Amino acid sequence: MKGIVFTELLEMVEEEFGYALVDQLLQDSNLPSGGIYTAIGTYDHIEMIILVNKLSQQTNIPVADLLRSYGRYMFTSFTRSYRPFVDRSHSAFSLLSSVQHYIHVEVRKLYPDAELPHFVIEQPTENHLRMYYTSERKLADFAHGLIEGCLASFGEKATITKTDLVEDGSQVLFDIVKE
Ligand code: HEM
Repeated sequence: MKGIVFTELLEMVEEEFGYALVDQLLQDSNLPSGGIYTAIGTYDHIEMIILVNKLSQQTNIPVADLLRSYGRYMFTSFTRSYRPFVDRSHSAFSLLSSVQHYIHVEVRKLYPDAELPHFVIEQPTENHLRMYYTSERKLADFAHGLIEGCLASFGEKATITKTDLVEDGSQVLFDIVKE
């Protein structure tokens, strides 16, 4: 995964739990990268799983909840670093519908080695969107947080129902109904 994913994760941990915990996580995790990330470098996504698992042990917060908070945090960070992608959309549903065929396509142009999920989108009605997530990295909880972050940034409210379509978590349906 790209370094930005790691630098933002460590920044969130520092903001929420303090630098001492970041330091301890990096020491305990014994990472191949040594915990030194540059925004454009590429690192094994396993390092993210290791860091989030250690963080869960240290804080007693479940891994799924941490990934979800991290997704919300990351969306805010994307709105800063990739403003033009966000500004093209006038609503949360229009942005979410553009992730597969526009946003992640542009991300891939910037970083040819980016590891991105696949989404299929259905919109049965104006207030109802379905996102089918597929990724061997099984980061649907992170996707859940990104969807929440997106809704929040447009000041919109919706109920998100997450359903595992296969047991290993690599295919997940998000059913999103606006209030
Ligand atoms: C401006 C908006 C967005 C930008 C700039 C963006 C960009 C990125 C980047 C740079 C990565 C990391 C790729 C890597 O590390 O190799 C990523 C991964 C990911 N993105 Fe996006 N993204 C955006 C919006 C979204 C939204 C709204 C969703 C969810 C609906 C989403 C779902 C994901 C997921 C789940 C991953 C993790 C990789 C995986 O699951 O396989 N992204 N995105």
